[in-house]
Amino acid sequence: MMKHTYIEDVGKHDGEEVTLRGWVHNKRSSGKIQFVILRDGTGYIQGVIVKNAVSPQVFADADTLTHESSIELTGKVRADSRAPSGFELDVRGLKIYQEVSKDEPFPITPKEHGIEFLMDHRHLWIRSTRQRAILKVRHEIIKAVRDFFDDDGFTLCDTPVLTPAACEGTTTLFEVKYFEDKAFLTQSGQLYNEATAEALGKVYCFGPTFRAEKSKTRRHLTEFWMVEPEVAYATVDDMMDLAERMITFVVQRCLVRRSEELKALERDLSMLEKVSVPFPRISYDEAVALLQKHGSEIQWGSDFGGGDETIISQQFDKPVMVHRYPTAVKAFYMEPDPARPEVALCVDVLAPEGYGEIVGGGQRIASYDLLAQRIKEHDLPREAFEWYLDLRKFGSVPHSGFGMGIERAVTWICGLEHVRETIPFPRMLYRLNP
Ligand code: 4AD
Ligand code: MG
Repeated sequence: MMKHTYIEDVGKHDGEEVTLRGWVHNKRSSGKIQFVILRDGTGYIQGVIVKNAVSPQVFADADTLTHESSIELTGKVRADSRAPSGFELDVRGLKIYQEVSKDEPFPITPKEHGIEFLMDHRHLWIRSTRQRAILKVRHEIIKAVRDFFDDDGFTLCDTPVLTPAACEGTTTLFEVKYFEDKAFLTQSGQLYNEATAEALGKVYCFGPTFRAEKSKTRRHLTEFWMVEPEVAYATVDDMMDLAERMITFVVQRCLVRRSEELKALERDLSMLEKVSVPFPRISYDEAVALLQKHGSEIQWGSDFGGGDETIISQQFDKPVMVHRYPTAVKAFYMEPDPARPEVALCVDVLAPEGYGEIVGGGQRIASYDLLAQRIKEHDLPREAFEWYLDLRKFGSVPHSGFGMGIERAVTWICGLEHVRETIPFPRMLYRLNP
């Protein structure tokens, strides 16, 4: 393959001849000059094809170029202050790799398409400027999360996807055949994190997680990516400190490195600029009072629905941390507050502007007897949890962790309406294709 240049690097080649490879984003012609906008994933540049400056073949080929055809352009880079990227290409050569047929043009056009149509064509939709911007921000968030934990003394310990038991409740498990037996797709790496945290102190896992939730909301995927730190000897307060530091780091990183993409998404950056430590912390009790004040029917003891979270998070212009939910509405492993056992030492972080929960976590039960009792109360198969109970037999310590759903974070940071655009190929209740 001949050496070629990425569009994002053309600035280093002003006045030089380069070869660019990509796809036809747009084309227009004014008789003796044709303008081709080329995109290659790193940027966009306009190629100018002047009839007198190229061979008749090149000019004729350029004339028939169709949207999304794959091509190579060779020419001289020229600085142009009017061009969005600051540069144009004076084209000398054109090579067509594959021409999209005029009889079956690229299905996605600048006109409005319905969401189902776009989702059915997700494999092509991701080429659009907007989808590219979202995926760039997603990548930045993932990279920032990894850098944050790696630079803070955490060790990445991958946890299994195929598991023998539930972590977040039996009603949302995907069951798969496992030879003669059955297994479940993991809902969270947490239980395994608790084991690796006792081996390495501060750990995190980062992988796909699965929830067979029959929820069709703008916040639910059936497959999503979660980052989960777990720390030995840490309390729920330590987790609030850690979560607010991590979220602030991630948002700042996106503001520095992805402001162009965020602007393309028309994100109100002033809202993101407000994200700094400390975040407001309110108890579940206070949150219930707040909801009632805003006309909600909620009673103490119920979990919050999406609508409740929206109301709470609209009251703050930073993420808000809600702690100490009723033990009864939370997972089996939650440590009760010793001062008030009816509430658990847990925390949810709700993103502002109505986005709702992005982080859930807290302190885990450290006592063998209490954990064994909870496993029974929750009707969980004791055999599958023997190893987990062992962690309370051999040097049990107070310990805590949390999980942040990457797609929820992307939805909020990008300012999107729906989580479906935050992952290349979303999996939802009614969506397994493409
Ligand atoms: O609150 P969740 O269920 O907590 C756990 O799984 C804990 N075991 C994590 C831990 O303590 N290590 O899920 C954590 C986060 C949520 O706050 C949300 O961001 C995301 O995972 N999440 C989802 N994202 C998209 N679609 C879904 N169906 C999600 N369910 C949870
Ligand atoms: Mg939760």
